[in-house]
Amino acid sequence: MAILIRPVVEDDLEKVGQLYSKVYTSKDFDKFTPAVSIEYIAWIYRRCPELAFVAVDGQKIVGGYLAAIKPWFNGPHVVDGEIFVDNDYRRQGIGLRLTQTLLLQAKEKFGASEVEALAFTDEVGPEFSSVRWHEKNGRHIIKELVLVEGSIEETLVIIDQRIKRTSTQS
Ligand SMILES: CC(C)(COP(=O)(O)OP(=O)(O)OC[C@H]1O[C@@H](n2cnc3c(N)ncnc32)[C@H](O)[C@@H]1OP(=O)(O)O)[C@@H](O)C(=O)NCCC(=O)NCCS
Repeated sequence: MAILIRPVVEDDLEKVGQLYSKVYTSKDFDKFTPAVSIEYIAWIYRRCPELAFVAVDGQKIVGGYLAAIKPWFNGPHVVDGEIFVDNDYRRQGIGLRLTQTLLLQAKEKFGASEVEALAFTDEVGPEFSSVRWHEKNGRHIIKELVLVEGSIEETLVIIDQRIKRTSTQS
């Protein structure tokens, strides 16, 4: 059966979330449960419903790409996207078709000029590594930027200590 790319509708969110959970569950990682994934996908979708597409094989959702738009100094950027294709349907061009559809829509509807993405490097292993895929599609790695994340609990403890130290110094 031919694979179609179409916009996401509210009724799809549960199935799209279930697919996201399936894609991001491996033998070593099972934190994106269906419930968490459905909530996450619904959040992305509701931020920008115009930039949300699925690939369908008949009634079955086999891929998705959902993203948002941010205003930036050189024009609107497509940001915070999630693209994922069912393992059984990979390497058939579905990811490319989802990307093409979403970026054309972003350009036409929002005048978007650039697309940004967070991608796992090869260090994560072949299952989740996607940086090469982005590179093949003309994206560039910005070596000057790194992802910084931390526990709020730990950050608050450290910040508290640093504030106290600063105030005793002045
Ligand atoms: C990345 C992903 C969306 C690609 O979807 P896909 O439908 O398999 O990709 P396509 O078939 O459209 O890709 C076509 C081209 O990309 C290549 N490609 C596909 N997945 C790749 C990967 N993970 N790394 C490197 N190249 C990849 C194909 O070989 C093909 O290139 P070629 O024409 O030179 O042979 C899919 O592998 C996926 O869902 N991965 C897990 C989730 C993920 O990593 N998402 C991205 C997070 S930023």
